[in-house]
Amino acid sequence: MKILVLPGDGIGSEIVSQAVRVLEKIQSSPGEIELSHGVLGGAAYDQYGHPYPPETQKQARAADAILLGCVGGPKYDTLPRNVRPEQGLLGIRKDLSLFANLRPAMLYPELAASSSLKPEIVAGLDIMIIRELTGDIYFGQPRGRRTNANGEDEGFDTMHYAKSEVERIARVGFETAMKRNKKLCSVDKANVLDTSILWREVVTEMHKQYPEVELSHMYVDNAAMQLVRAPKQFDVIVTGNIFGDILSDEASMLAGSIGMLPSASLDANKKGLYEPIHGSAPDIAGQNKANPIATILSLAMMMRYTFNRTDLANRIETAVRKVLADGKRTGDIAQKGETVIGTREMGDAIVAAL
Ligand code: IPM
Ligand code: MG
Repeated sequence: MKILVLPGDGIGSEIVSQAVRVLEKIQSSPGEIELSHGVLGGAAYDQYGHPYPPETQKQARAADAILLGCVGGPKYDTLPRNVRPEQGLLGIRKDLSLFANLRPAMLYPELAASSSLKPEIVAGLDIMIIRELTGDIYFGQPRGRRTNANGEDEGFDTMHYAKSEVERIARVGFETAMKRNKKLCSVDKANVLDTSILWREVVTEMHKQYPEVELSHMYVDNAAMQLVRAPKQFDVIVTGNIFGDILSDEASMLAGSIGMLPSASLDANKKGLYEPIHGSAPDIAGQNKANPIATILSLAMMMRYTFNRTDLANRIETAVRKVLADGKRTGDIAQKGETVIGTREMGDAIVAAL
């Protein structure tokens, strides 16, 4: 297993080093896992003047899977957009054609009280959000700044999806639903956007190939509401890049903490980039406070999706469950009065459980 490790910025190096300890622990013979290390985001800008430099690109192309911490930080906020850390992330996704972003939102029973919603609304929650990741308004051309007919400065972006782009992500949606509870909700804004009208047509057409799946369509504003009203109605959600960006952050709160949620971004051959869905949390960076669980659970996804090692994925997830059941809590998931442990101590506990 050739894995490229990209800690990124902020809390990235702290959480990724705990995940690397997990990798070392699960390896059954030396050399089974081959790690290389590189830079992305602000760290890459500092070293090479670009957030996704050719050096990293070469490493990323050679790897089977990539483990990423997180990118960004206040230090880089004033840089021109094309060299900001976020462009590193968007750049690597696009360069490797990682079009399928899987973002599970599930609630560990031990954390029901950490959710901002009532326990009865979220208990047993298990949703998979599938977000298209290389198209939509994120990458659409033309975009930019111009002076409009009234001589006023304006900014503009372009939303578009080609039929083939919708087809390949819709297929991931249907296939995922088939492996779960066979319910797929496609989220769009077909009451307003032409892009969404095409999206809905394509998803509806593909449904014929998956008659066992119960398909529904929902407008994104309604989906945002339903996620906090009755989130357990969802099994798999498939949606475009920008709607998925927003809905997946929203869904993370149902799960108690954004510090718990992993993600996978896959290409057509299951090569993948695995990262926690949270950001770089500059306010707590370097303080041994961050929750490494989202990153460690991202490794479980890597074992499952890229390497087909369900055994190792289950082992990692079971270890995480065990430490939660043992009451181990970082600050983000602790209730009042509970003892808070640090990033390293959470790593110690998970390695011990393994
Ligand atoms: C995410 C992030 C990124 C996105 C940013 C950092 C570019 O919010 O992974 O959800 O918008 O895709
Ligand atoms: Mg986001």
